[in-house]
Amino acid sequence: MKISILGCTGSIGESTLEVVRKSKGFIKIASLAAHSNAEKLSRHASEFGVSKTVLTSQTKNPEALEELATDPEIKTVVMAIVGFAALKPTIAALKAGKTVALANKEALVTCGELLTALAEKHGGKIIPVDSEHNALFQALQGHSIEQVDKLIITGSGGPFRGKTRSELQSVTIAQALNHPKWKMGPKITIDSATLMNKGLEYIEARWVFGLPDDKLKILIHPQSLVHGIVQFIDGSMLAHLSPPDMKAAISYALYYPQRQPGAVEPLDLVKAQKLEFFEVDYENFPCVNLAQKALKKGGVAPTVLNAANETAVQAFLDEKISFLSISDMIEKTLESAPRQNLDIQSIFAADAWARQKCQENILSLRH
Ligand SMILES: NC(=O)c1ccc[n+]([C@@H]2O[C@H](COP(=O)([O-])OP(=O)(O)OC[C@H]3O[C@@H](n4cnc5c(N)ncnc54)[C@H](OP(=O)(O)O)[C@@H]3O)[C@@H](O)[C@H]2O)c1
Repeated sequence: MKISILGCTGSIGESTLEVVRKSKGFIKIASLAAHSNAEKLSRHASEFGVSKTVLTSQTKNPEALEELATDPEIKTVVMAIVGFAALKPTIAALKAGKTVALANKEALVTCGELLTALAEKHGGKIIPVDSEHNALFQALQGHSIEQVDKLIITGSGGPFRGKTRSELQSVTIAQALNHPKWKMGPKITIDSATLMNKGLEYIEARWVFGLPDDKLKILIHPQSLVHGIVQFIDGSMLAHLSPPDMKAAISYALYYPQRQPGAVEPLDLVKAQKLEFFEVDYENFPCVNLAQKALKKGGVAPTVLNAANETAVQAFLDEKISFLSISDMIEKTLESAPRQNLDIQSIFAADAWARQKCQENILSLRH
């Protein structure tokens, strides 16, 4: 099977390369893309004998990622790019009838309804790689969606679980980047600290599984061993457990409907000892609620939420705003969002508008 890995230099991209190494030639790489890390990209290309590569920060071809994503040679695109930049190549891949092993959240958050419709129309497929959605996808095999009462997304609670807003006032970038369970890229690690990650996943689940939001629930599970739970109409639940290692989800997506022998070490349940679950602390972590409201509002509201979040998280990482200002900036940007219909042009326009507006909000905060 031949694949393209877009975002091959990041955390998901490099975990995918490990899955490929272990596949003993079953998975071959046709092309690789990264944004600015030329050294890593060329190291990966030479290890896997890949001649088609794209470095988006340097290419003069604005369609370069779309070309890799629609290459007739490949069956599957691993979408490991972070942020809204993944949207165009994801659209292109689905239009070309490819299977997209989709780790990227932001494309589904902003464009979920349109992406799932595109997949259906052109015979493409989205296999979720995000661990919670991959877990739910696995637990749903052999069941129809009509048998589902609730889909439960779990989250560790991040590095600041249990903290109050006043305690969160002075947290540092280093503390926010110190995730207790997962090793990931900086943007998603900050999203995990604010819990926006769970908000984005809630919106993602709406579109991946086609269920209304009253059938979606988030629970905090500090051990990060249960990644998703399907609650059926008869009261039974099926949970998916694995170590907190993205290779479990990536290998399932690439081998589906088969499984890769030894993809990850199985859990030692005796050592794990306890599995705890708590309600989300909506008061101290308002981002979940902002995402839920944006989904309810519909139209381009999730696009505005996502763009404001990307902008605010970057400003926090650049030491321009405090941790608590991330949710404030998103809320302020959402409040003034225009109402627009949902089509591709409106999504790109809303994304650009929200980035600009959020920057203005950040600047006004600093003056
Ligand atoms: N990491 C996880 O465990 C995890 C779990 C679930 C879902 N996800 C989702 O998967 C996506 C990737 O996360 P990550 O943690 O792997 O991120 P990451 O480590 O920051 O890697 C991001 C990748 O995207 C590339 N990239 C950045 N900006 C780009 C642009 N404008 N155009 C094209 N490529 C660009 C980067 O290239 P350079 O290295 O050259 O900058 C890098 O290869 C995110 O959407 C995240 O939410 C991640």
